[in-house]
Amino acid sequence: MTNKKIIVFSGAGISAESGLGTFRDNGGLWEKFNIEEVATPEAWKKNPKMVTEFYNMRRKQCYESEPNAAHFAIAKLQVKYDVEVITQNIDDLHERGGSKNVIHLHGEINKVKSSGPNAENKYFIQKNWEVKIGDKCADGFQMRPHVVWFGEAVPMIDQAISRINSADIVIVVGTSLNVYPAAGILNYAPHNAEYYLIDPSEVSVPDYFNVIRSSATKGVPELVEKLMIER
Ligand code: APR
Repeated sequence: MTNKKIIVFSGAGISAESGLGTFRDNGGLWEKFNIEEVATPEAWKKNPKMVTEFYNMRRKQCYESEPNAAHFAIAKLQVKYDVEVITQNIDDLHERGGSKNVIHLHGEINKVKSSGPNAENKYFIQKNWEVKIGDKCADGFQMRPHVVWFGEAVPMIDQAISRINSADIVIVVGTSLNVYPAAGILNYAPHNAEYYLIDPSEVSVPDYFNVIRSSATKGVPELVEKLMIER
């Protein structure tokens, strides 16, 4: 075991090969759905049924999917390193792949909470994929997904920043780095850390990144193998 710390910052691309859609690729979710109609507090006020059905569809896909080689490889790093995963994903594939320390910046699809006031930390596990209009919480308000909608605060951002600022190695996988404040956490990582980007597409990163132009299931296990041998 080294005392080196690895931060993995992941996005939808790491779950793409598990069958879960990305957002901005061709055919991505935001080509099929209008963010303003399914992923904002205003959408919820206007049409809670449509929002509920949008997340039911995603929850069903998540519950029917399995972690892939990239999720498992990241978990393997824990044998040798102090690993924290900071993900933008709302699926639980990192956890099901064996990662112990996972921060979900945009919430978790397998958790639900009240749509009433002061509900932030009163969430609970949603065992089956379907939430219905009329499913109410103890406070009498309609149940909503425990996810961060556009325009809502990102409660875990400070915790994520406090974790990444002591990283020795930063691995960015499967994110277009388009969404803030999430993508901004990279600015808080130490300049002398080692940086890796794994993505099949061109993603704009500073030139100190080691860019691995590859899919997650190919690029992540190869990098992990290298990191498990070295040091
Ligand atoms: N392996 C690795 N990366 C992949 C793969 C793959 N098999 N397939 C696609 N990608 C890459 C794409 O090239 C792209 O860079 O994954 C990235 C997906 O980018 P986005 O669709 O923008 O997803 P993400 O960056 O996670 O979006 C961030 O935006 O809408 C919000 O809340 C949503 O958390 C999400 C946030």
